[in-house]
Amino acid sequence: MHLLVWNEDLSVGITSLDDEHKVFITLLNKLYEAIQFGKTSTVLQQILDELVTYTVIHFEHEEEYMVATQYPDFEQHRQDHEAFREKLMHLQSKSQEHLSTGLSNEIFAFMKDWFTHHILNVDKALAVHLKQKGIS
Ligand SMILES: [Fe+2]
Repeated sequence: MHLLVWNEDLSVGITSLDDEHKVFITLLNKLYEAIQFGKTSTVLQQILDELVTYTVIHFEHEEEYMVATQYPDFEQHRQDHEAFREKLMHLQSKSQEHLSTGLSNEIFAFMKDWFTHHILNVDKALAVHLKQKGIS
């Protein structure tokens, strides 16, 4: 398992969304580094909580954009977010008992894969629409 490194392929071309995606990646890598350095479950939990909070806020921003611009695929995109939010909440509650290194690795891998796939496929499609609406 490796860090998720930002590169131009991940850019959707909308500055505010790219900036938020970069923050997410930074937080995700913070979790990765904490795992590598053998940090305590308390520290891992703090980072995970930060990641979950940030993800929820970021999704809200995207959803606000979609509503404001009457995005035709809003419902599908929102459902994709919802499924991820639910999975995150589940992992977060599972981790309350004890966030082991194994579970942290599982969470890191899941978030990294989901987010990469989501940016490349779902957010890029949204970005095309937003650009048509004059958002850059
Ligand atoms: Fe999204």
